[in-house]
Amino acid sequence: MTDKPIVLVTRKLAQAVEARLERDYQPRFNPDDRLYSRAELLELTAGAEAILPCHTEHLSAEVIARLPDSVRAICNYSVGVDHVDLEAAKERGIIVTNTPDVLSDATAEIAMLLMLGAARRASEGERLVRSATWKDWSPSFMVGLQVTGKRFGVVGMGRVGQVTARRARGFGMEIHYHNRRRLDPDTEAGAIYHQTLEDLLPCCDVLSLHCPATPASQGLLNAERLALLPPDAIVVNTARGALVDDEALIAALTSGQIAAIGLDVFNNEPNIHPGYREQSNAFLLPHIGSATRETRDAMGFRALDNMDAIFAGEEPRDRVA
Ligand code: DGY
Repeated sequence: MTDKPIVLVTRKLAQAVEARLERDYQPRFNPDDRLYSRAELLELTAGAEAILPCHTEHLSAEVIARLPDSVRAICNYSVGVDHVDLEAAKERGIIVTNTPDVLSDATAEIAMLLMLGAARRASEGERLVRSATWKDWSPSFMVGLQVTGKRFGVVGMGRVGQVTARRARGFGMEIHYHNRRRLDPDTEAGAIYHQTLEDLLPCCDVLSLHCPATPASQGLLNAERLALLPPDAIVVNTARGALVDDEALIAALTSGQIAAIGLDVFNNEPNIHPGYREQSNAFLLPHIGSATRETRDAMGFRALDNMDAIFAGEEPRDRVA
């Protein structure tokens, strides 16, 4: 017998993270990395004192209401917490944490990849090469948009937004942003603040979304707002699919109102709106913003740092509820 807390670990994690879990807790691993049904998830929480979930587990108010009383903590392996009903957790006295900071660099890298992939028609080009249908080179072949020196607009200038803006500056881009609060001048580093999203949009040759998905931000990028972007704009999303009205974005792309999109996140992943697949000017990735070895280790360790603090009776660093 051991008095180490039982922890339900919903997905397979990096070896070093699982080794630390094994050392300090009684983990219930998911060696096959299967997505649990709601019933399985609830069954597996029997006797557990903590859950270490990913954004793939939907901890709705209904699920949280049915968790056993033994569960004291939900230590997420994600910075986004839109999959957890925080109010419901608070009501049950369950502490919830996330993993900020550690995935900012990896996500900013993917935002740059999406921007360049969309601007330079990377999907189209790669398909041509792979399918052996590339026939010729000519001055008019595969001409895309150059981003150097253009305007890069950030919605949500938090940790990821700030790192992404720094990367975009490397392309000589002028940074514009909208955020609930204006940053201090040092952090702003010359970026131009727009008090409203409506003010920001006409200044975005590239628009990059970095705000959390909340009921208030649901469908934030809708038809009216897309219409405010300048001609030839590129939309990039590494945050959450819920920020976008899919029908409106696909319509804007189809009509040529915007030039291209680069998306790593979608509504209803992985069953995305089929309209995206039909767009040649869409560069699409399967939610891999944080998928680097370094970051996946760091996310696991950060989730465990939070868990350790909770079981030591201390305030965890990344408490969100
Ligand atoms: C996050 O951390 O929110 C990423 O999207 C992966 O879940």
